[in-house]
Amino acid sequence: MRKVIFTEFGGPEVLRLVDAEAPHAGPGQVRIAVRAAGVNPVDWRVREGQVLGAHPTVLPSGVGLDAAGVVDEIGEGVADVEIGDSVFGAGSDTYAEFAVLTAWAVTPEGLTFAEAAGYPSVVETALRLIREVGVRPGETLLVSGASGGVGSAVLQIAREHGIAVIGTASAANQDYLRGLGAVATTYGEGWVERVRRLGRVDAALDLAGAGVLAELVELTRDPGKVLTIADLSAPRLGIRFSGVAGSVPDALAEAVDLISQGRLHIPVEKSYSLADAAAAHVDSHAGHTRGRRVIVV
Ligand SMILES: NC(=O)c1ccc[n+]([C@@H]2O[C@H](COP(=O)([O-])OP(=O)(O)OC[C@H]3O[C@@H](n4cnc5c(N)ncnc54)[C@H](OP(=O)(O)O)[C@@H]3O)[C@@H](O)[C@H]2O)c1
Repeated sequence: MRKVIFTEFGGPEVLRLVDAEAPHAGPGQVRIAVRAAGVNPVDWRVREGQVLGAHPTVLPSGVGLDAAGVVDEIGEGVADVEIGDSVFGAGSDTYAEFAVLTAWAVTPEGLTFAEAAGYPSVVETALRLIREVGVRPGETLLVSGASGGVGSAVLQIAREHGIAVIGTASAANQDYLRGLGAVATTYGEGWVERVRRLGRVDAALDLAGAGVLAELVELTRDPGKVLTIADLSAPRLGIRFSGVAGSVPDALAEAVDLISQGRLHIPVEKSYSLADAAAAHVDSHAGHTRGRRVIVV
């Protein structure tokens, strides 16, 4: 099979498309013929060699966590899918023709493989953040960096929970945020005043890592009501950093529920081929993705 790997840490140029042995499904896993893989910022962070969690990357390494495709091998103990089922979920080395998933759900009717590949990580992150930040129905959540993959999911899931959202994004994404049910304003010069004029803020999420933690504390009046997934300076300000992926085991089931009811949609900003994985990383790194970028196999 063909697979994207890197043998040294570095820029997008270290990505190579190579022939490799297909992986096999271990106990509790499935293997899929990958039709599409989600491109998450964590993919290029790992490629750059940024320290991530307790599991250092071993070289050579594959790339990618999210994928959608067709089940072609079932590991011991797996009873909820059959060979030939279309599934989407999370695993490892998903920028490849075959990949092993450790969490999956049957793809909802009407969703393309490319769309489905964009959901797993962002939905898990969005659900985790809404639970951890401690915002209640009827309250207002401020989201800095609201138009990206995680932001798109947060806005729609918050709306489902009866939480009002004020989101910041570039001028080009104001209508997009409003379409997801949020009150929108732009980031940049004067943004704190613009948010203040929109009303009281009960809790805040920093999704863009844009150096705004102090302002989010100012707006919520409580560092305990601010949560970030992208700013490592958080602990110095008494702010929590949320970083344990996979801590919401029911995330895919909840995603299926919402997608099937037409209440959650993450748009695909752009599709790339496996051979264009480096371009996908360059574009993701530029930091202005609306929804998700995907690699179509
Ligand atoms: N710790 C965790 O568990 C975890 C999990 C998932 C992701 N992450 C991290 O969280 C970040 C967001 O992930 P993502 O997948 O949502 O990224 P993404 O899809 O690439 O979205 C980034 C968004 O940031 C916005 N943005 C850029 N500059 C901004 C600014 N100065 N102020 C406010 N917004 C700005 C962009 O909006 P415009 O285009 O409108 O400018 C864009 O929509 C990444 O750094 C990722 O590595 C962490």
